[in-house]
Amino acid sequence: MKIDQETVAFITGGAAGIGFALAMALGKRGAKIMLADLNQLQLDKAVQALTAQNIEAAAVLCDVADEKQMRAAANATIARFGKVHIVANNAGVALGGTPGEIAMKDWRWIVDINLIGVAHGVEIFTPLIQSHGEGGHFINTASMAGHGATAGMAPYHATKFAVVGYSEGLKPELEPSNIGVSVLCPAWVKTNIHRSALDKPTGGNSEDDPQFKAMETVIGSGLNPADVAEWTVECVEDNRFYIFTHPEFAGGIDMRHAQIKADYDACAQFPAFQKANAS
Ligand SMILES: NC(=O)c1ccc[n+]([C@@H]2O[C@H](COP(=O)([O-])OP(=O)(O)OC[C@H]3O[C@@H](n4cnc5c(N)ncnc54)[C@H](O)[C@@H]3O)[C@@H](O)[C@H]2O)c1
Repeated sequence: MKIDQETVAFITGGAAGIGFALAMALGKRGAKIMLADLNQLQLDKAVQALTAQNIEAAAVLCDVADEKQMRAAANATIARFGKVHIVANNAGVALGGTPGEIAMKDWRWIVDINLIGVAHGVEIFTPLIQSHGEGGHFINTASMAGHGATAGMAPYHATKFAVVGYSEGLKPELEPSNIGVSVLCPAWVKTNIHRSALDKPTGGNSEDDPQFKAMETVIGSGLNPADVAEWTVECVEDNRFYIFTHPEFAGGIDMRHAQIKADYDACAQFPAFQKANAS
């Protein structure tokens, strides 16, 4: 889609990290920005930084897991800018752990933010975008963790695979309304995402915990959020669906697909399925 001075973008988790970088990249093309986030102090700083770049920006305090707060944030966006075109469902948190030891409270916390938060964005904003007829675009932030899983981060993988599948389902549904969908799938990006695990309901590990330190090191070695955001916005302009940022992980995608294909082919050897397919 075309992004210019007429475009209004709503960005969750927009006060920091990838969300803030997206605000900057969209704003530099002229878009007006509404940031939604849990962190008021960070929101204030973000609006100041955008305004300093002559980007028209406002902010609303909002927990994406709370439907009422998301509806209020949508209303605040319409009240301020009249309409909305781009919705970046970007807010997310990290949670790992060992199976059998993860509290259900913590599971619900990550699902409510990483998945239901995206669903709130889509359900609440779709009619608002459809109502003006100018089209729009959803950018749903998943992860490379939504395309392949490793041990230790199962709840995070579960939510990110869900966001990929959800976005694949949305794309054909929204196409007739001229609403594009992209799913952003980065690997490591240099942000504060590792700190979010400290906020889980049952309390996080301390900053001195070796697991926290290891995650901090990996995240610290990641891409610059501004580069991720610039590529993301180029992909939105080109209406690209999957937004990947780490070409070095292409082999992992090939391996996963080869495993799926091998197990799929195996089912063709089971006699009952051969008969069912023949009849
Ligand atoms: N950093 C990475 O390596 C990486 C990689 C792949 C995907 N992602 C995804 O990118 C997205 C953005 O994360 P980030 O890396 O910029 O992290 P970040 O922690 O730097 O920024 C996330 C922002 O979301 C806000 N937030 C958290 N919970 C919220 C809630 N319930 N409601 C509203 N706002 C909330 C935080 O206050 C913060 O400002 C997440 O969905 C994350 O899973 C990050």
